[in-house]
Amino acid sequence: FIGAYGAQDRSVHVVHEDPSTEATQKLPKERMFRKKSNETLILGIESSCDETAAAVVADSRKILSNVVYSQEVEHRSFSGVVPEVAARAHLERIPEVVTRALADAAIGLSDLGAVAAAAGPGLIGGLIVGATFTKAMAMSLEVPFIAVNHIEAHALCVRLTDPVDFPYLLLLISGGHCQICLVHSAIKFEVLGQTLDDSPGEAFDKVAKMMSLGYPGGPSIEKLALGGNAHRFRLPRPLCHKKTNDFSFSGLKTAVRLLIEKHENAFNEQDMADICASFQHTISEILVHKVNGAIECCQSKNVVPGTLVASGGVAANRAIRTALADLGRRHGMRFVAPPPHLCTDNGAMIAWNGLERFRLGLVNQLDFSPRPRWPLGS
Ligand code: KG4
Ligand code: ZN
Repeated sequence: FIGAYGAQDRSVHVVHEDPSTEATQKLPKERMFRKKSNETLILGIESSCDETAAAVVADSRKILSNVVYSQEVEHRSFSGVVPEVAARAHLERIPEVVTRALADAAIGLSDLGAVAAAAGPGLIGGLIVGATFTKAMAMSLEVPFIAVNHIEAHALCVRLTDPVDFPYLLLLISGGHCQICLVHSAIKFEVLGQTLDDSPGEAFDKVAKMMSLGYPGGPSIEKLALGGNAHRFRLPRPLCHKKTNDFSFSGLKTAVRLLIEKHENAFNEQDMADICASFQHTISEILVHKVNGAIECCQSKNVVPGTLVASGGVAANRAIRTALADLGRRHGMRFVAPPPHLCTDNGAMIAWNGLERFRLGLVNQLDFSPRPRWPLGS
């Protein structure tokens, strides 16, 4: 399906149709959106994992369109993302997704001031598809090409919907990453801690796989957890007894596996809900414990950011958002997270990061090579 998040109406329009319909093939003849003078419009393209996404964002923080084609159907039978399948699906879908993003924004190609693509980190096949498509647009439209770091896009996305000032303390929790950092500017990130093994998103996905809940695991676990007892199963909190800002989640995942094996898969629906609730509660406690440590670390260095930000797919989880908001309140910090549909992978965060870089004069040459590994801020 395609989830399109409209400009005026931010509600989700889930369109169950093939994106290659006639309407998505044609750009509007009359452009309904009128640019404010000097306003820059940027197209952002995301293809680093299993979402083919494109969005148009204006300088004024206005999201003119946000189209996400989620490859859930392509990967469902594998209970995870298959890189080759993802790359092929990006290649098939990207023209329609981009055309639709321009049509939804009611603009034409000549209205774009620049084009940005997620150029890493991620699965190299998808990155090559997205970056090459974007470079070709830049070349033919004679506008700048901006190579965006996908993790930085998650890190800065909050500023698209809330005018958060630098510096802020960021907890970045997604399927591929887990980091706490101080965000000093759009290009300066100070990493305070990170995972030594799995990311929290991976833990959600692997536990969901053990319980045959499908991929991605986070949303299904969150849903089942609503009816469960979060205190029924006591699960480990790796690295929480050590004075480190680093995380570890693989022991937690193994503990859930052992729990399931011990009961020889003879769980009823309530047991399943209790496992989900206990697991989600444990992840939430680990995150709160670690962010609390990082805040104390900042305080001891007399750096006290006023805002705590969470972003990345796992930050869409409501229980985790609530726990982090409580933590922020205890420290007198404002807690902000992008709306859930901007926490998971999307084109708007790529376009926004493109805008932040464009304002700083940071554009790229067309020979920029996509990077499967690309640490934050490098
Ligand atoms: O940021 P994202 O869309 O992609 C990466 O950059 O990795 O994050 C995807 C991850 C998946 O592991 C998915 O299970 C998790 O985010 N996720 C959630 C929720 N929604 C997505 N985890 C917990 N609760 C959710 N509601
Ligand atoms: Zn992501």
